[in-house]
Amino acid sequence: MGEVWAATDDKRGREVAIKVLLQRAAMKPDLVKRFEREAKITSAIKSPYVCQLLEVNATEDGTTLLVFEHLSGESLSDRLKREQYLPLSEVGPIIDDVLRGLAAAHAAGVVHRDLKPGNIFIERLADPKKPERAKILDFGISKISGRPKEEPTLTAFDATLGSFAYMAPEQIRGAARADERADIYAVGAVAFRALAGRLPFEGSSAAVLVSLKLDRNAPRLEEATGEKWPQGVERFLERALDRRKEKRFGTAEEALAAWRAIQPSNITRVKLPPSRKSAPPPPAASMSFTGSIANFPEDQPTEVDDSPPTMTGDASWAGASAGRITREPPRAVPRARGRKQGGR
Ligand SMILES: Nc1ncnc2c1ncn2[C@@H]1O[C@H](COP(=O)(O)OP(=O)(O)O)[C@@H](O)[C@H]1O
Ligand SMILES: [Mg+2]
Repeated sequence: MGEVWAATDDKRGREVAIKVLLQRAAMKPDLVKRFEREAKITSAIKSPYVCQLLEVNATEDGTTLLVFEHLSGESLSDRLKREQYLPLSEVGPIIDDVLRGLAAAHAAGVVHRDLKPGNIFIERLADPKKPERAKILDFGISKISGRPKEEPTLTAFDATLGSFAYMAPEQIRGAARADERADIYAVGAVAFRALAGRLPFEGSSAAVLVSLKLDRNAPRLEEATGEKWPQGVERFLERALDRRKEKRFGTAEEALAAWRAIQPSNITRVKLPPSRKSAPPPPAASMSFTGSIANFPEDQPTEVDDSPPTMTGDASWAGASAGRITREPPRAVPRARGRKQGGR
């Protein structure tokens, strides 16, 4: 549907990422409307864990362009293509960041509806204490919660979009049913995929995948990998991936608190020397995740602005050097084959 380009904003001397609709998509009014909605929704969310929209612009022929902050690093999907699966010590902070970004989106009244590894970007930071940070991208099929009647054609159209692989069962049944808890499900599916090296459900066709999802509970990590996992991690995933949304974590904050509570004491399976039986247990929730949501004012509720996005008409970047970042082809996630060397 679109392309994302890396570009240089010559006037402001900054790197940006420009998202543009492909010409054939730009001819379809519903796609253009959705693109414009992405701009409006994204600009309502101010969080370090959500890729920030800098401006909305247009080319001379009227093509809309969304100009985002440029992130250096890679998407989680690229990392998973390369690594197959990731250790818990790496997945821990990624899911932590994603849940913080999600909490900010939900506080702004936005349900993402298409969380998946391709829409999570792992930004490289210069900070040795926190070498990377995950950011949520692509609010292209998100919806403003509590407004189920908004843009009905768009919503019906959206039902066929997004990735079934990460989608909550109720969202597969109908996009309008998806609320914040559908995003929690998707985070559970992303965490499962990253840890296990495979999806909770895999089908030879979309129909098989959907029926599995609607009829069965997600397997435990142990079943999926043949390895023993900490109970806390299994319980977290079981709850996030529950078929019934009422049984899931009610909010991203609740899921975040639960995720932090299982890090790291029962995760880094540290074997204490047998002689030290009086050694105190390792402190819970003390990994490298510092601070709480309350410490991040950016994560506090933001007003959703209903006014149309600002068209600055500033084409300062026009003619600037540009190179395409990526256009993500639809692609099945490969099954786990062989295990990467090294412990979790
Ligand atoms: N701000 C950005 N900085 C760097 N890369 C980006 C940025 N935004 C998107 N990308 C890259 O482009 C890919 C597609 O972006 P996305 O917003 O998800 O568009 P689409 O609607 O095509 O899925 C991402 O997976 C990521 O690799
Ligand atoms: Mg995307």
